[in-house]
Amino acid sequence: MKGAVPTVLLATGLIVGGGAAWLATSHHSASRSPVPAEHFMPPPDSAIPKTPFGDEVRRGEHIFREPAIYASAFVGNQLRCSNCHLSAGRLAGASPMWGAYVAYPAYRSKNGHVNSFEERLQGCFRFSMNGKAPKLGDPTLVSLESYAFFLAHGAPTGVDLPGRGFPKLPKPPVAADYQRGAQVYAENCASCHGRDGLGQSSGGRVVFPALWGAQSFNWGAGMGSIKNAAEFIRANMPLGLGGSLSVQQAWDVATYMDSQVRPQDPRFTGDVAATRKKFHNNANSMYGLTVNGGVLGDPAMTPPAGTIPVAASSAAPAPVQSE
Ligand code: HEC
Ligand code: HEC
Repeated sequence: MKGAVPTVLLATGLIVGGGAAWLATSHHSASRSPVPAEHFMPPPDSAIPKTPFGDEVRRGEHIFREPAIYASAFVGNQLRCSNCHLSAGRLAGASPMWGAYVAYPAYRSKNGHVNSFEERLQGCFRFSMNGKAPKLGDPTLVSLESYAFFLAHGAPTGVDLPGRGFPKLPKPPVAADYQRGAQVYAENCASCHGRDGLGQSSGGRVVFPALWGAQSFNWGAGMGSIKNAAEFIRANMPLGLGGSLSVQQAWDVATYMDSQVRPQDPRFTGDVAATRKKFHNNANSMYGLTVNGGVLGDPAMTPPAGTIPVAASSAAPAPVQSE
């Protein structure tokens, strides 16, 4: 039985000595998991101090788990930060916030300058959440930054920590293929994310997030890159069974997922070909290419970018789940 239970990594609690006191070993049930076995372990929620700083950390975690409720002004879809950054930003190999926090400021080719951590957070609102970026210094960013800072407690700065981002994936043995990807999807993903990729809700609450369509990430998002998606999927999907797909299957299904209709790139110049040339001119993006007779990104069949607010209709905020 497959359930909506996030992968849980149990730390042995072993602290490795000698200059690497932040390393701990975790048991990965899937022996084929590409996630490094030794990585930093963030402190538990119980270690959040009962201070004004601790309150800020908790606010950040609430936003991270339920952005449509706690940061609704900036969110344009039904995704949560924690849908991609699993275990609320703690899970190694699922772009954990402890790995990110210590890696900024950093140069990003995406915008051609050195980005602060807050600016990096802005990008996820604009693209992954298909929303509007909070201004620098906005309480939403301060809370999220406090949460990431807390998770990174004791980690060295300026280090590419094992478990940061997604595990690198070799190139597929043969060129990735949409049709094979559709097959992988039907067999391994549709039961949760739906045949139509639009996810599933229960009692008004999204239980399986949308992989494409109006309620998913937009064309500018990191997950819209086939390479990022293949790496994420291979390490983390099907949920709880990370490492079970072959390298080929991960590339095929990522190609299938990233060849579907999703909200417009907010950097859209008004012309699909020009937008591809400027922002998607690489083998990992299907934007502007023709799939099933339609041009991906064609405004006629593309939901708008920055469609906010999504939560306007959802009346009472649901209580924050503690995992
Ligand atoms: C057992 C149910 C289940 C299966 C099967 C499953 N997923 Fe997921 N998937 C989830 C859940 C639940 C989340 C969100 C996790 C969270 O919030 O902790 C998720 C998150 C994702 C995300 C990031 C969020 C988003 O909406 O973009 C992607 C991408 C994804 N899954 C792709 C896949 C692919 C591809 C497959 C098949 C290879 C797959 N999943 C199979 C349950 C599943
Ligand atoms: C649809 C999946 C998805 C969602 C939802 C999402 N992210 Fe991300 N995030 C990614 C991907 C993919 C990357 C890596 C992108 C890249 O390398 O270009 C990333 C990168 C990041 C990074 C930098 C990580 C690093 O190691 O440099 C931060 C910080 C971050 N996201 C925060 C957030 C926050 C906060 C939210 C919610 C407001 C959020 N993300 C929502 C997919 C997502």
